Amino acid sequence: MSFIIKHKPITFNDVVISDKNVCLQLRNWLATKSQEPLILYGPSGTGKSSIAKLLPYAMYADFDAFDLQWIIADGRNNLAGQLNDLKAFCGVNSLSFSNNRFVVIDEIDNLKPEVQRNLKGYIDQYSGVVHFVFTTNFLNKIDKAIQSRCRKMKISHSNMSAWLPRLKHIMKLEGYANIATDAELLNIASKANGDCRSALRKIEDLVVSLEGANIRKSYITSAPSSSRTMHSK
Ligand SMILES: Nc1ncnc2c1ncn2[C@@H]1O[C@H](COP(=O)(O)OP(=O)(O)OP(=O)(O)O)[C@@H](O)[C@H]1O
Ligand SMILES: [Mg+2]
Repeated sequence: MSFIIKHKPITFNDVVISDKNVCLQLRNWLATKSQEPLILYGPSGTGKSSIAKLLPYAMYADFDAFDLQWIIADGRNNLAGQLNDLKAFCGVNSLSFSNNRFVVIDEIDNLKPEVQRNLKGYIDQYSGVVHFVFTTNFLNKIDKAIQSRCRKMKISHSNMSAWLPRLKHIMKLEGYANIATDAELLNIASKANGDCRSALRKIEDLVVSLEGANIRKSYITSAPSSSRTMHSK
C-alpha cells in the first residue's frame, strides 16, 4: 500500500502544519466550536482535504460519520441535486437531529458560478446549524460573497523541519527507527519541494531500498551506532 494512504493522518494532531498562526487559528476554530464557515486554500498536497476530514472528529469527541456530508465538487455531477441533498441534510427534516453536523465541499472552485451563488443562501440559512468547510487550490475562483462569509486559512507547504518528527515516526512504524539521521531524512524530504505526497513517496522509496538491502530491525538494534546510518549498507 502506498505510504500516502498507509501513513495518512488519522487524527488532527497527525497533520503537519508549520505555520504557527494557521495552527493557532485552526485550534481556536475547533476549541470555540466556531460556526464560521471555513475555506482551506493553498497548493496541492498540503493537507487541506485531510484537515477537512479530521476537523469534525477533533471538534466533537463522539462525532458520528453519519453527521458529515462530504461533497466532491467535480464539475460534472448534478450540482443542483447536490445542493438539494445539502438542503435535506441541513434542513428541519434532516434524518439527523444533531447540532454537530459538518458539510465539507472539497474542491469548491469546481462549483459553477451560478451554483456558488445559490450556495451563498444555504450558508446564510444553515451556518448556525452545521459547520461548513470548503477546500480549494484556487481561492480566486470562489465567489466573493462566499469568501466574505468565510474564515479563510491558507494551508501552505510546510517547511520540512516541521515534518521531521512525523517522518521519524513513520520510519519507526516501518521498523527502521534510528537508521537514518535527522539530516538524511530532512535531505530526502527537502527534495519534495513542500509537496507532502512527494515527501511520503520519497520516504517510501527509502524504506523499499532498505528492504531491498535486507536491513532488518533486529540487525539495526544490535548493530553498533556507527553502522546505523543508511549509508552503511
Ligand atoms: N500536512 C500534512 N500532514 C500530514 N500528511 C499530509 C499533509 N499533507 C498531505 N499529507 C499526506 O498527503 C496525502 C494527501 O493530502 P491531501 O489530500 O489532504 O492534500 P490536499 O492539500 O487536499 O491536496 P490537493 O490540493 O491536491 O487536493 C494525505 O493523505 C497524507 O498522506
Ligand atoms: Mg484536496
